[in-house]
Amino acid sequence: MSPTAVLTGIGGYVPPRRVTNEELAQSLGTNDEWIRSRTGIQQRHWADAGTVTGDLAAEAGERALKSAGVRDVDLVVLATSTGNQPMPATAPEVAANLGLGQVAAYDVSAACAGFVYALTAAAGAIAIGAAERVLVIGADLWSTRLDPADRSTAIIFGDGAGAAVLRAGTAGEAGSLLGFDAGSDGDRRALAVVPGGGSRQRSHPHAPELANEYLTMRGRDLFTQAVEHMAGSSQRLLGRVGWTGADVDWCVAHQANIRILHTVADVLRMPRERMLSNVDHVGNTSAASIPLLLSEATADGRLEAGDRVVLTAFGGGLSWASTALIWPDL
Ligand code: UT7
Repeated sequence: MSPTAVLTGIGGYVPPRRVTNEELAQSLGTNDEWIRSRTGIQQRHWADAGTVTGDLAAEAGERALKSAGVRDVDLVVLATSTGNQPMPATAPEVAANLGLGQVAAYDVSAACAGFVYALTAAAGAIAIGAAERVLVIGADLWSTRLDPADRSTAIIFGDGAGAAVLRAGTAGEAGSLLGFDAGSDGDRRALAVVPGGGSRQRSHPHAPELANEYLTMRGRDLFTQAVEHMAGSSQRLLGRVGWTGADVDWCVAHQANIRILHTVADVLRMPRERMLSNVDHVGNTSAASIPLLLSEATADGRLEAGDRVVLTAFGGGLSWASTALIWPDL
């Protein structure tokens, strides 16, 4: 029997600077009431100049290693779409800064679905014997890529990082990842995109729309797609794992917008209270969203050992991914 990936540590980190709705309201021509009622967000954290994505990732990684009670891993997988630079990947720098030695390290780019994609990659590495212990991190620093004049993106995104440690274990142990579902829709890539800075821009140097290196988003269409794919992916996953919606203690969905979370719960016929959320105080932290929430809910006792948990994520690409586990004693 090939080994199974078992979650054995969790950690999260947001930079100290809190940015309230009031702070954004005047310059963006919006107000606290609009932002709260449309998104559920009251504040987010933005990193100060001089802080890079790898710094957030290393802090969350350090906390996850501490939670797991270990100091070494043999692979680091970092989910991010806002790396320290276009090349090289940020994961090797994070591994070096954490003092992990010359371990394998690479980035996964799947926007807000990145952390669950990275869990899949790490579980695969464990299953084939390529790694015995993996540090999986989701980190994004979108505040550097937000158009200060675009009120539809500037109000939503917060900076942050979350991380988990996976180890090789046996099927049936608490914390073992029970199954995966993932998919993508490249035909809808324009719904959330940073148009500039890539080979498409370099290959079409006179296309002005490709000069934009800010995040652009079609919010209403994304809303619909997020509900469809997080609900659909969760349903397929439940079928694979052999659970029904009623078996699930907590659904930990990508924290895009509280209305999206409630609609996903309604489609899954799950009480809305079973959707864990922290979007009110951290906003949409992209690849960090799920591990940051897992870390917070473990620390405050909402998430307890033995709880049946579904993780489901959706983001640019489009891409989506889900997994499930029985929460371990951390
Ligand atoms: O992480 C995964 C990717 N992102 C998402 O999943 C985001 C999903 N989408 C959303 O969360 C919502 O679509 C938004 C919060 C972005 C927007 O809310 P909405 O209710 O879908 O608004 P809308 O984009 O349909 O815009 C409705 C109106 C527009 O005005 P008009 O054209 O009707 O006059 C917007 O200009 O609301 C306006 N608007 C705002 N007004 C005040 C958009 N943003 C704001 C704002 N304050 N911040």
